[in-house]
Amino acid sequence: MTGKAIVGLIVGSFRTHGNTEGIASWVQYYVKSLYPDITLKVYTPVSPINLMSEPIDPVVPMKISSPEQYVNPIVRSWAKAVQECNAYVILTPEYNHSYSGHLKVMFDHIYNEFRGKPGTLLTFSGHGAEKSYEELTNLTLKFGVKITGGMHFSIPMEYVVSNKRIVPNFDPNTSQDSFLKKLTPSLVSELEKTLDSL
Ligand SMILES: Cc1cc2nc3c(=O)[nH]c(=O)nc-3n(C[C@H](O)[C@H](O)[C@H](O)COP(=O)(O)O)c2cc1C
Repeated sequence: MTGKAIVGLIVGSFRTHGNTEGIASWVQYYVKSLYPDITLKVYTPVSPINLMSEPIDPVVPMKISSPEQYVNPIVRSWAKAVQECNAYVILTPEYNHSYSGHLKVMFDHIYNEFRGKPGTLLTFSGHGAEKSYEELTNLTLKFGVKITGGMHFSIPMEYVVSNKRIVPNFDPNTSQDSFLKKLTPSLVSELEKTLDSL
C-alpha cells in the first residue's frame, strides 16, 4: 500500500481498575515493536471520541455511504476514524458470555466503514472467553470485517476475583504478569496474520 498503514485497536472496556487497559498495552507493545511503520490508533468507547452519550444517528447507519452523511458530528468523526483504518485489532473482555455492551455501542453508531478490512479478534476472561469470541465473530462478520486472525484466552482468576489487575504500560522487561509472556507467541502469530500484508 502507498503511505503509512493505519491500524485501529478497538478496545471494548474502560472499566476503572479493570484488566483491559493492561491487555491493550500488551497488544500495543507488540504491534508497535513488530510494525514500527504502522500508525496505531487506540479507541475505547469514551476516548478519544466519547460515544457513550450519543444517540444513534437519525439516518439508519446501514443507509450511509460516506461518513460526511452522519448528522451527529461526534458520530461523523467516529465513522471517519474507522474508515481511515486499513485493519483492526478488536479487543474485549467477556461480559455475560458476550463482548461488552460498550463495544456494541461503538459498532451500532456506524455500519459500512468496517467493510472489507482485515481484523484480528481478541477476547479474554477468567474462563477462556470462548462464548464472547463466537459472539464477536458474528458481530464483526455482519459488519464485513475480514477476520484474518484471532484468539480467546484466559487470564488467571486472581485478576478477576481479587484486587490484582494487569499492570498498564506493558514492558516485557519489567512485567510481573508472567502469564502474558506465555501468551505472547500466540498473540504475535495472530497479529501477523492481519498486519503482515499491510
Ligand atoms: C459485568 C461483568 C460480566 C462478566 N461476565 C463474565 C462472563 O460471562 N464470563 C467470564 O468468564 N467472565 C466474566 N467476567 C469477568 C471478566 O471477563 C474479567 O473480570 C475481565 O477482567 C473484565 O475486563 P475489565 O476488567 O477490563 O472490565 C465478567 C466481568 C464483569 C465486570
